[in-house]
Amino acid sequence: MDITLIISGGILIGCIIALSWFAGSDAPYVPTKMDKIKEILKLAGDKKTPVFPLIGKKFYELGSGDGRVVREAARLGAKAFGIEQSWIRVLYSRWKSHNLKLNNAKFMHGNIFKKNYKDADIVYIYLLSKAVKRLEKKLSNELKKESVMITQTYHFPTLKPFKKTDDFWFYKT
Ligand SMILES: C[S@@+](CC[C@H](N)C(=O)[O-])C[C@H]1O[C@@H](n2cnc3c(N)ncnc32)[C@H](O)[C@@H]1O
Repeated sequence: MDITLIISGGILIGCIIALSWFAGSDAPYVPTKMDKIKEILKLAGDKKTPVFPLIGKKFYELGSGDGRVVREAARLGAKAFGIEQSWIRVLYSRWKSHNLKLNNAKFMHGNIFKKNYKDADIVYIYLLSKAVKRLEKKLSNELKKESVMITQTYHFPTLKPFKKTDDFWFYKT
């Protein structure tokens, strides 16, 4: 086979993988900065168990990217789930949590709007405003009482937050 053809094919496949890494229908892939996330997750947890404040909690991240926030929630004791539409990011997240032996961090491939979150204690959302607005309605109908929702940068248009810290807003159902 012609070497130019092989190189062009390789470049094309590389470009497709690179583009699909950043793509996302309700938000492109922009990861949460990790410097504050531990403190933010702790605020949604139980102060009586400061080392594992999320123990006994079910944590969901809607659009989990490379899985970094789910892994942090798992380290803090939660049964943590990420839902992500990019297969590359789901596979990377599974590989990373397997390597770190975080058995309580799970990643599902799919569209966040097609899943139900009725068992969630904490939901974390970093998506664009249109998706956040749609989720406000969906989560208000689905979540049990006293669940905590955390939005980053783009926030629910109607619900009143009980706390705001930097770019993170906290809500209760
Ligand atoms: C702004 S990034 C945030 C990533 C991660 N939550 C974080 O904070 O590091 C948004 C992520 O949501 C994913 N996403 C966007 N729309 C989605 C949808 N409808 N269903 C599942 N994942 C979605 C994108 O693929 C992307 O990884």
